[in-house]
Amino acid sequence: MSKIEFLDLGMQPIANNFLSSVSDIKNEYKFRLAVTFDDDTKLVSLSNFVSPDLMFNDSYVYHSSLSKTMRSHFKDAALSFLKDYSPEKVLEIGSNDGVFLKNFSSKRSTAIGVEPCSNFANITRDLGYATYDKFWNNQLAKEIVLNHGKQDLIFSANCICHIQNLDEAFSAISKTMSSTGIFVFEDPSLLSMINRRSYDQIYDEHAHIFSIIALRNLLDKHDLSIFKVQSLKVHGGSNRIFVCHKGVRSIEESVSEIISKEIDAGLNTIDAYRRFAYDVEKSKRQLLDIIHELKRKNYKIISYGATSKSTTVFNYCGIGTNLIDYIVDTTPAKHGKLSPGAHIPVISPEEGFNDTVDYAFLGAWNYENEICEKERKFLKKNRFITHVPYVRFIK
Ligand code: TYD
Repeated sequence: MSKIEFLDLGMQPIANNFLSSVSDIKNEYKFRLAVTFDDDTKLVSLSNFVSPDLMFNDSYVYHSSLSKTMRSHFKDAALSFLKDYSPEKVLEIGSNDGVFLKNFSSKRSTAIGVEPCSNFANITRDLGYATYDKFWNNQLAKEIVLNHGKQDLIFSANCICHIQNLDEAFSAISKTMSSTGIFVFEDPSLLSMINRRSYDQIYDEHAHIFSIIALRNLLDKHDLSIFKVQSLKVHGGSNRIFVCHKGVRSIEESVSEIISKEIDAGLNTIDAYRRFAYDVEKSKRQLLDIIHELKRKNYKIISYGATSKSTTVFNYCGIGTNLIDYIVDTTPAKHGKLSPGAHIPVISPEEGFNDTVDYAFLGAWNYENEICEKERKFLKKNRFITHVPYVRFIK
């Protein structure tokens, strides 16, 4: 059997589907969130995909520009691509609010966005970038090549892993990329997820969590080669993967280096995933133990960052308003809403992050440094709780 399911995180909602009111609860969509390893391609994917229209639409709430870390991350990325590759035509797949694109000239012919969530597509269109509010596929690729020609740099951050049909996505990229062009994409690293036991990288949008081993197999079918890989700290550990048409560029050592690390961690065999599943169950028990213990002592516990990741944790662990009073988050579109599945109210930090709070579960653990820096006053007397890489307090 080539496909082996190794982890079941139970019935889960759409991770970013914040509910406007209690009356929405009865119609809340749920699906079984489980993960499968394909022993042929070595790809790790969800066992059940959710229809893209349910996840990516005009009520999408994830705003890249709201974080200082991500703003400087994408600015640095754009500047380094301009310096190293001097692309004339740039296309971004999943352009969100333009946090990356806006570092390129806004002349319509040189930088293009693809963004199926029309609320975000409108933002980049208003900034002057031609933006297609459509899903990335062969048909759209054809339209873009016809209207704008082939592209020198195709960039995509935290989006390729959302695409269920990777064969079509890579074939469309191969047809859109100029002969000496590059395709650069960033997505959460499977190696980091396994090493950090950060099982909350698993949610509906992440149809796949990539190893370089699997990507090399999948890209090869489309005559595409990975020529460089950079490890990134963002999103709890990501890879930036550089791809070209086969034979066009020499393959840098970084590719074999990271593949060796993945092989050492066993990512090409099912055993590593079975061990991970065991660790995930242990993490759940330990998190529940410390939260119940604090609750017994009558401490007020809230959550910091209404992330997709915390949707997985709360629904898998059965954490609701019985344990967490509310979640604070800086995203205005999440305020006044209920978190998916767990139905914990979301409010602004100004309203809820005050002296009455004793402990805060760090839902946005991937911004630990930025948040700890900002919340030094809170940390003088109080603690954050995290489960990454193991259940612990942050002082
Ligand atoms: P993120 O971890 O990027 O997303 P996800 O798991 O959904 O992919 O989301 C970070 C969330 O945390 C986002 O809703 C904004 C919020 N946040 C704060 O509330 N305060 C902060 O200081 C930071 C950095 C993020």
